[in-house]
Amino acid sequence: MRRSVVLGCGAYLPERIVTNADLPKELETSDEWIRQRTGICERRIAAEGETTSDLALNACRNALERAGCGVDEIDVLIVATATPDHTFPATATRVQANLGMKRGAAFDLQAVCSGFIYALSMADNMVRLGQANTAMVVGAETFSRILDWNDRSTCVLFGDGAGAVILRGEEGKGDNTDRGILSTHIFSDGTGYEMLYVDGGPSTTGVTGHLRMEGREVFRHAVTRMAEAVEKSLETNNLTTDDLDWVVPHQANIRIMDSMAKRLALKPEQLVVTVDKQANTSAATIPLALTAADTDGRLKMGQLVSLTAMGGGFTWGSALLRW
Ligand code: ACO
Repeated sequence: MRRSVVLGCGAYLPERIVTNADLPKELETSDEWIRQRTGICERRIAAEGETTSDLALNACRNALERAGCGVDEIDVLIVATATPDHTFPATATRVQANLGMKRGAAFDLQAVCSGFIYALSMADNMVRLGQANTAMVVGAETFSRILDWNDRSTCVLFGDGAGAVILRGEEGKGDNTDRGILSTHIFSDGTGYEMLYVDGGPSTTGVTGHLRMEGREVFRHAVTRMAEAVEKSLETNNLTTDDLDWVVPHQANIRIMDSMAKRLALKPEQLVVTVDKQANTSAATIPLALTAADTDGRLKMGQLVSLTAMGGGFTWGSALLRW
């Protein structure tokens, strides 16, 4: 049976670090409030003129180098983003051009914070069906550009960054001891549309707008939906939470992750956490966290890793893979 195996992953964070203490005094917030409610200590903010495609390009180059893969081997490039460079064409096509990738297909995917899981699911299906042999899946965002910097209930939560994962089709036995993606699950419920949205866009106001959110409702849904999505993936593969080595959740808030871990009876040390240093980078959080855990040697070949996310829409999902 053909599986999508992770060949390598990579990351890029803008240089500028903004700590909680660096946030504007007019916001009337504090390091203590932000840390206690979210676990966030600092975030990276893109430089003036630095775009989502720039961040994605650097993450792709890093992933290609770490995977020992040439750009000419990539059959499909998917960029998950809610903050594209332009309304069209796809940010992925700009990344494709800047990588010097002259073949294959490149397109964007929009599922906000669940975008990476959605894109991974698309890429996995393409690889398993033989439509692509090698796929590069990117999560890249410049959320700093869509924040209302006068709204303390949202602007303290987000940061900018990009991460990329390269998948390659490999034949194996097809049981759950094989390396690669065992399954992906994606879900949405559009009745949550107005709980988390940007109050602008080409077809409404004609300008981009700012992020608006019902924080408590989003919190509640995030815990429930991410836990459910992890359980669904385990059930599908006849596995249980005891089989899991690592869970890499979307990094929105440490309290969301801890509550989800509690529901799944996971040990806190099984969670990969980067929210303290990077805040919520939307579609980029999972590939950034995966790259961090791969770089410091936590992820070992053969380990069972669960990825899960929830975001605007509402959208949510999971991927279960053997590293
Ligand atoms: N600094 C200081 N005070 C603040 C801040 C801030 N940055 N933000 C809000 N407050 C105040 C509020 O004004 C309110 O004051 P009041 O009681 O005088 O009215 C008080 O703090 C409590 O506000 P709540 O919104 O009730 O605080 P809550 O405990 O719900 O925490 C938070 C807010 C952190 C946003 C929480 O709801 C949350 O994490 N929600 C999840 C949202 C999230 O992470 N979204 C990311 C995108 S979606 C995703 O990625 C899954």
